[in-house]
Amino acid sequence: MSPLRRLSLLVALTLATAGAAQAQGRLTLYCSSDEAWCQQAKTEFEKATGIRVDMTRKSSGETYAQIKAEGSNPRGDVWWGGTGDPHLQAAEENLTQVYVSPNRRRIAEFAINQAKASKDRTIGIYSGALGWGYNDEMLKKEGLPAPQCWADLIKPIYKGKIQIANPNSSGTAYTALATLVQLMGEKDAFNYLKALHKNVNQYTKSGSAPVKAAGAGETLIGIVFMHDAVSVADAGRPIKTVAPCEGTGYEIGSMSIIRGARNLENAKKFYDWALTAESQGRAKDVKSYQVPSNLDAAVSPLTPDLSRIKLINYDFAKFGSSAERRRLLKKWDDEVGSLPNN
Ligand code: F6P
Repeated sequence: MSPLRRLSLLVALTLATAGAAQAQGRLTLYCSSDEAWCQQAKTEFEKATGIRVDMTRKSSGETYAQIKAEGSNPRGDVWWGGTGDPHLQAAEENLTQVYVSPNRRRIAEFAINQAKASKDRTIGIYSGALGWGYNDEMLKKEGLPAPQCWADLIKPIYKGKIQIANPNSSGTAYTALATLVQLMGEKDAFNYLKALHKNVNQYTKSGSAPVKAAGAGETLIGIVFMHDAVSVADAGRPIKTVAPCEGTGYEIGSMSIIRGARNLENAKKFYDWALTAESQGRAKDVKSYQVPSNLDAAVSPLTPDLSRIKLINYDFAKFGSSAERRRLLKKWDDEVGSLPNN
């Protein structure tokens, strides 16, 4: 063989090996928890395994829609974080796949229930209760009372002073919609949402945006998960966190492997890693104050104590079902989202 031919064979072989190594060393992560936590997970997992992670953060409903749109040609490997309802919907629609991690032994019951409901296509990684945060400095300046109950939020004194996300894109806002239906009954809940609309100045895309806006003084109240309000307060903003007096719903933040994942073995590695006490215990370092699902994970003293909050018995099987989620979102679009702006 001529030296030139030998060289070109060697180059071809090196390129092929490098390609294979690269294919083994990647993971496409769709992340729906807070951006800072998503970045932390990417960095820490890359450090622990050497696997390169391509991460995108999108809200829960948006990510569900993307995975559905990509169903016949999946591009993502793992969907990590975001509220549990759309993860259950994806499981029911066969967009995600069964996996039973060996790291399930020390996982809380709320998280295992999510796995059971989906026949092991998803699992809980954290939990957190719905509520709101308000800007205390603005409240005092305007001489307004602090809203403590859902009933307060529809009072005319808060006209144009509230933000909440759009339930189509945001899992937080869908949790709010499903919570109100469970608290009040569907008819009263929709009347409530129409009344609330008069006080809403913007429906944001992401669930935590409303309380970030409240922290920046752009709105008085943001309806969000309580841990997101705590996070903004912890960043030094004048935000007070409220657990609604009538009771409230909660999320089981979840994780699923996408059906047809191109990097399946790496997806399983990430999934196993994300259930460990070590990885979950680091969330607090980036101000993510959910309750971790791993019973041995370190919990911040700032994490809202769910046992002290009046929680409804949220029906995840019903509100995470494909038909119910689609029906409620359409009804919200028809009856609330389409109302004229105030
Ligand atoms: O910011 C963190 C968080 O509230 C998670 O607890 C939750 O799962 C997720 O964001 C929901 O985000 P979105 O409402 O944008 O789907």
